[in-house]
Amino acid sequence: MHIAAVVLAAGLGKRMNSYLPKVLHKLHGSTMLQHVLDTLYHLKPQKIVIVAGKHFKEIKESIRYSDKIVFAHQKEAKGTGDALKIALPALGEFKKTIVVVNGDTPLITRATLKKFLTLHKRRKNDLSVLSFISQHPDSYGRIVRDEEGRIGSIVEDRDAAAFQKQIKEVNSGVYAIEQNALNLLKKIKLNESKGEYYLTDIVSIAVDEGIKTDAFCIGSEDELTGINTRKELENVRQLMKTRIINSCLKKGVDFIDKDYVFIDSKVNIGNGTTIYPNVYLEGDTKIGRGCKIFPNVRIQDSIIEDGAVIKDSALIESSVVRKEAVIGPFAHVRPESEICNRARIGNFVEVKKSIIGPGTKAQHLTYIGDARIGKDVNIGAGTIICNYDGYKKYITDIEDNVFIGSDSQLIAPVKICRGAYVGAGSTITEDVPSEALAVSRVSQKNIEGWVLKRKLKVKSEKLEEKKKKKR
Ligand code: UD1
Ligand code: CA
Repeated sequence: MHIAAVVLAAGLGKRMNSYLPKVLHKLHGSTMLQHVLDTLYHLKPQKIVIVAGKHFKEIKESIRYSDKIVFAHQKEAKGTGDALKIALPALGEFKKTIVVVNGDTPLITRATLKKFLTLHKRRKNDLSVLSFISQHPDSYGRIVRDEEGRIGSIVEDRDAAAFQKQIKEVNSGVYAIEQNALNLLKKIKLNESKGEYYLTDIVSIAVDEGIKTDAFCIGSEDELTGINTRKELENVRQLMKTRIINSCLKKGVDFIDKDYVFIDSKVNIGNGTTIYPNVYLEGDTKIGRGCKIFPNVRIQDSIIEDGAVIKDSALIESSVVRKEAVIGPFAHVRPESEICNRARIGNFVEVKKSIIGPGTKAQHLTYIGDARIGKDVNIGAGTIICNYDGYKKYITDIEDNVFIGSDSQLIAPVKICRGAYVGAGSTITEDVPSEALAVSRVSQKNIEGWVLKRKLKVKSEKLEEKKKKKR
């Protein structure tokens, strides 16, 4: 299909009562506007023009890069009709079908858009409107038809007569427009009651001019709800949540209680994975098959491979957890970390920008930063990698089969070679050769009978004091 798209996003969004531009409010990890754009990409438009207004810069910066996107600046929010007019120069030489979508309708699906465009082409319309039946039509423009069912106009709620307010078929804000209908934009007059140029007025103008126009009532309210208020945002969030959960269920994901999980729209989860309540899966996160994600876990922009287990209260950020690794409880895996197959990161362990090799274990009270750790290494409880001297960060290398005794500090840069041991309680400042034992603590001495001697000493001191007082 040869189409270009225009997304209207320059409204003031006053009804949101927000500092943030309306289309930049987020639902399940993406802004309203980004949801609309992601859906539009599936139609393979040659160009997408985003009309932005007062918050032009913020809106531009919020968009994930695509070479198809161009921006048009509507400096004053003079209505949807004016917004589309401003978008046209950005379309350049494009002269085929233009699809217009509101930026505040994030649940719209590619299936409905495709069906709409197919109907538009098949009927050879010059102007088509996508409509739906609404149980709460007050915030939409009504589709006014004659006795034969032919569309005559779209009337906004504030301008509708009592009998028109009864109409339940409403305008979704999605239009398909051919060049000859576009020329009618300049005929739209200012709507005096709102002080805006309504794009919806193009319908009655087209009908009057005998241009082939129709509305296709193929949408559903759940999909085409426009967001104008916080309440509507909340409602759409819930609808999107249901959609995400249903798609997970279809893929074979198991939820202990589906109502208490929070999954962003871009997250992918494999079959046979079980998710406990109060789990947050955010951003570009991918979870493999047969994983277990226990309560109070948050995973952001990370990959969790098949069979991994994330135990209670763990936080994983921008990292990779490979097959059958176990994280938590109470662990923090910070960005750019890789936890390899079967590795274990346990209670109160923090890992930052490090590789934890296959089968390696750090199970208790440990900090690992800027480290490259090989396979089957044992990191004892309370080990601290001292990677920062107040100015710079340094790398620590720990090779395969190393054993680090508990309560050790490794002062980076340092290298512990293959198979070496570090005695518990050591402070390691120099490289440890392969198979060597490094111990840096003071060696132990036992003083026999010390306790009894001390008791006697204390006793005689007390006696002395008493004598002094008597004198
Ligand atoms: C609009 C339609 C209404 C339809 C509804 C569907 C008009 C006059 N009304 O009403 O028939 O049922 O959408 O959700 O078109 N915008 C601009 N520039 C402006 C004004 C708005 O770009 O000057 C953008 C907004 O950012 C928004 C979209 O256009 O994304 C729709 O504007 P909004 O004010 O939300 O219109 P509605 O009252 O919802
Ligand atoms: Ca709206």
